Amino acid sequence: EERKYEFPKDFLWGGAVAAHQVEGAYDVDGKGLSTADVLTAGNQKTPRQITKGVLSDQYYPNHEAIDFYHRYKEDIKLFKELGLKAFRTSINWARIFPNGDDSVPNEAGLKFYDDLFDELLRNGIEPVVTLSHFEIPYALYENYGGFKNRKLITFFAWYAETVMRRYKDKVKYWMTFNEINNQLDRFDELHTWTNSAVLFDEGDNKEEVTVQASLNELIASAKAVKIGKEINPNFQIGCMMAYVPVYPYACHPKDMLASSKMMERRFFYSDVHVRGEIPTYALKRWKNEGFDIKYTAEELDALRQGTVDYIGFSYYMSKAVTTLDDVYGDPVRDFPEAKVVGNPYLDTNDWGWQIDPDGLRYTLNTVYQRYNKPLFIVENGMGAYDKIDADGKIRDDYRVAYLEAHIKAMHEAISIDGVDVMGYTPWGVIDIVSFGSGEMEKRYGIIHVDKDNQGHGTLERRKKESFAWYQKVIEANGLQG
Ligand code: BG6
Repeated sequence: EERKYEFPKDFLWGGAVAAHQVEGAYDVDGKGLSTADVLTAGNQKTPRQITKGVLSDQYYPNHEAIDFYHRYKEDIKLFKELGLKAFRTSINWARIFPNGDDSVPNEAGLKFYDDLFDELLRNGIEPVVTLSHFEIPYALYENYGGFKNRKLITFFAWYAETVMRRYKDKVKYWMTFNEINNQLDRFDELHTWTNSAVLFDEGDNKEEVTVQASLNELIASAKAVKIGKEINPNFQIGCMMAYVPVYPYACHPKDMLASSKMMERRFFYSDVHVRGEIPTYALKRWKNEGFDIKYTAEELDALRQGTVDYIGFSYYMSKAVTTLDDVYGDPVRDFPEAKVVGNPYLDTNDWGWQIDPDGLRYTLNTVYQRYNKPLFIVENGMGAYDKIDADGKIRDDYRVAYLEAHIKAMHEAISIDGVDVMGYTPWGVIDIVSFGSGEMEKRYGIIHVDKDNQGHGTLERRKKESFAWYQKVIEANGLQG
């Protein structure tokens, strides 16, 4: 039998989720509120609202999520049957430090993750852990204003030290801040909130505030890397980026420039994480804009000492940008003559995300050429409305087609282009609450969860048709023919 798409021997085939999107149990065992707990449900057209604390007349989909907190053993049984080698989740910071600035951690929270990681390891599944996946303790917003306050550097470093020490023999693969670059790309409330627990005040220069919060996070991340390596030199500690390549729409040189300017906003973060210094294009822009970005010599040193071992990233889609007058699109903030436009060569999913497997190969190449570090695809997948047929089956061939095309692209990057890829953990291996819209019915899973956008359902788990397909991929360590 032909094995055209075979992968490297220790390739980490996995699945990924985040604590706040699966666990539920938002107020048990001493957990504090997190930034995710004050996000209401939205949908394709209505954005999620950020409320001041928890309001009694609002529905918060993350409060129960899929109740993974109480059902993880049952779910891990399915993961084992699937053959997962790795499972990516996050630690909910507010379970460990309910107020964020506590000096003593909450033992019940620590114990939960001990049990979870033990259960994974017993089933032969390697935990891959993100320290901050949109779950900053809410009290750090209320009392300090979130990451625009440099005190959060210390709180994060203490949190990282606490959990890395506790799980030093259980977790080898870590990442610091999930999709840390979202905030600089968007400046919408949701992204600055979930990345940094920051809300803008009137009169704020949004970019300046976001840059300061981001730099504080990058410093906090570097400190965590250094501490982690002291705790266990075998740790592999990565950053976590959202890579959305932005193509020039036309071969007009100005379109090319606009594309590379837009990529800078993403690369800024991985440039600091990987190279340990602030890139000149950023310093220049801050100066030109008159930003007063604060950092100390000690912190610059910390950046140099805390560079990452690998680059974890999510990949869902690509975008395109143009400067041509006759093409309609959304204006780009810091490149006034440019706008983001649809790509006529690509299809989209129901949420308008452009499906582009070649873009994954392109991304793997560009990032590897830039940094020459191992890459880990820790999120990829297709949100879709699934339907249960009369015979109880969920025939999600569109999901299989999406994943298969991306796995092929990844294989080309490895076998033709020589890129070093550690593993692949598709997003939402089990259905979870969507981050962007708060919907349950934007499903990524190959395991279905019976719950709808209003929160109704039995929470029963059911394998979709894609389950058997992914099981075969993992078993064969790749695709056939
Ligand atoms: C990334 C996040 O933005 O993409 C996840 O790291 C998120 O938390 C995923 O769920 C998919 O986005 P969405 O909005 O479809 O849930």
